[in-house]
Amino acid sequence: MKIMKYDIGTILAGSFFLLFFACGGGGEAPSGPPGTSGAPPSTDAVSSKSAVLMIADADITLGAIDSGMVDAGKAIYDMKCQACHSTGPNRVVGPGWAKILDRRKPAWIMNMILHTEAMLEVDPTAQKALEECLVRMPNQGLSKEEGRKVLEFMRTL
Ligand code: HEC
Repeated sequence: MKIMKYDIGTILAGSFFLLFFACGGGGEAPSGPPGTSGAPPSTDAVSSKSAVLMIADADITLGAIDSGMVDAGKAIYDMKCQACHSTGPNRVVGPGWAKILDRRKPAWIMNMILHTEAMLEVDPTAQKALEECLVRMPNQGLSKEEGRKVLEFMRTL
C-alpha cells in the first residue's frame, strides 16, 4: 500500500501537484499556489477547473434536504451518472450509491465528483475502488453547483 497514514491535508496538498503535473488535459497552471488569496480567479474554463481548490469538510453544510436541489441532482444523475452508478447497493461500473453518505464524507464525495483525477492519484479510498472496479471514473465536468445538487440527491438514497 502506497499511502497508509497521511492526513487528508497532506493528501489534498499533494494532489495539487499531481493535478497540475501528472494529469494530462488540465490546461495551464493557475496564477498562484492553492490557498493564495488575491490571485484573480481564472476565466478560462479549463484552467479554472484545475485551479479550483479541493473541497474541505468545512466547506459543506448539510441542512434540511432541499427538494429542488434533489430534483436537479437527479436530472444530472439521469444524464451523466446513471450509465455507471445505480442508486441501489449494487455496482454497475462504479459503486452503487445507496446510503453512500453513511460510507463517505460529503467533501470526499464532492472531490470525487469534481476532482476525479486528483482523487484517483492520491486518495487511498478512491484508489481501492479503482482496483475493485477496474475502470477509472471519467471526470464528468460538473460545476461545483451541479456537484452539490448531485450530493443533495445522494442524501435521499
Ligand atoms: C464511465 C463510468 C462512470 C460514470 C459515467 C460516472 N462514474 Fe462515478 N465512478 C465510476 C467508477 C469506476 C468509480 C470507482 C472509482 C474509480 O475507479 O474511479 C466511481 C466512483 C464514484 C464515486 C465514489 C463512490 C464510492 O462509493 O466510493 C462517486 C461519488 C461518483 N463516482 C460520482 C459520480 C457522479 C456524480 C457521476 C455523474 C456526474 C459519475 N460518478 C459518473 C465510474 C463512473
